[in-house]
Amino acid sequence: MIYLDNAATSFPKPEQVFRGMDAFVRASGANPGRGGHRRALEAEAMIGDTRRQLARLFGCPRPERIVFGLNATDALNMAIRGLVRPGDHVITSDLEHNSVSRPLNRLERDGVITLTRLPAGADHLIDPDAVARAIAPRTRLVALTQASNVTGTIQPIAAIGKIVRERGALLLVDAAQSAGVVPIDVEKDAIDFLAFTGHKGLLGPTGTGGLVVGQRGDVGAWREGGTGGDSSSPIQPEEFPHHLEGGTPNVFGIAGLREGVKLVLERGVDAVLAHERKLIAAFVGALNDPGRFSWYGADKAILERGGEGRVGLVGLNLPGFAPSELAAILDEQFDIAVRAGLHCAPYAHKHLGTFPQGTVRLSAGILSTEDEMRRAAAAFDEVAAA
Ligand SMILES: Cc1ncc(COP(=O)(O)O)c(C=O)c1O
Repeated sequence: MIYLDNAATSFPKPEQVFRGMDAFVRASGANPGRGGHRRALEAEAMIGDTRRQLARLFGCPRPERIVFGLNATDALNMAIRGLVRPGDHVITSDLEHNSVSRPLNRLERDGVITLTRLPAGADHLIDPDAVARAIAPRTRLVALTQASNVTGTIQPIAAIGKIVRERGALLLVDAAQSAGVVPIDVEKDAIDFLAFTGHKGLLGPTGTGGLVVGQRGDVGAWREGGTGGDSSSPIQPEEFPHHLEGGTPNVFGIAGLREGVKLVLERGVDAVLAHERKLIAAFVGALNDPGRFSWYGADKAILERGGEGRVGLVGLNLPGFAPSELAAILDEQFDIAVRAGLHCAPYAHKHLGTFPQGTVRLSAGILSTEDEMRRAAAAFDEVAAA
């Protein structure tokens, strides 16, 4: 199989991720913080080390402010629902995944917040000046994706962060597609909340992810329960990470995530991004006639150079084929896995003019190879020529 759906989840996982989980489950496997015995302490130390690795990756000075959850969706909900208050104004964009759009749409529909959805420009970027113009006295939160899972464009987060901070609002960044692939420094980029998922660019198993919580926002706990530590407190403790981490964490998953993050740190985020861009260039460069396809998120010339300013994904369509039809042919006849449709980001497809049928998305990963990209290009050519 040629797996080109790494934007949905990375596959295969690196060997060390399997080994890290296996070793932890067999040798330790206890509940962190729920007992003073050695195995519980080992589990706690493993989780603490994972927080430190993630803190290094994200430039976060306080590892305890990294809160584990189920995935990016969980982290985004944790931030949005824990932060906004009745009467708040929130700014978002039309490039967002439903994990940002849906909670905000619900809050707007219920009359809790007012919402401004900024349109991306023709370059598929959110203009920092447009964010500045949209900020109003009641704006509490600006919630934006760092890299769109449809267009692949990397947003000018640092420039937006500076503006949001100067104007006294808070910035929540959806790093589902960027963590492990795009350099992130929450301090320098003035990011107040960074939601990440563990199973894409961080190479961990599904069921892992979390929220980096800055010092400025007062996030209410929306999941309260046991924290293992001070059981006498009648309400959720205020200190991090326990404040937002009620319940037993996904310890097995975090053991795998730790190995994925270590691998990313060893390779270096810049090198991972360069690798993925090289793969996109290899795919586009290997097509006999790229002009037969419609390209989205970047024009062909940019993609042939690897798609600067983008993560390693590409959206395309073949005129005469519905995206779902093309993806099914690739799957059934060529054993190539890609994702067709709206990619949980309907507003992004409205922006591109590809709503409601969507596009076919190819997304490369750290373990994808140039040979796979060339073979995928040959399959696309064969379908186009038939
Ligand atoms: C941009 C973006 N945000 C959020 C998510 C949600 O991630 P998860 O399903 O891991 O919660 C995704 C997943 O595809 C995504 O691409």
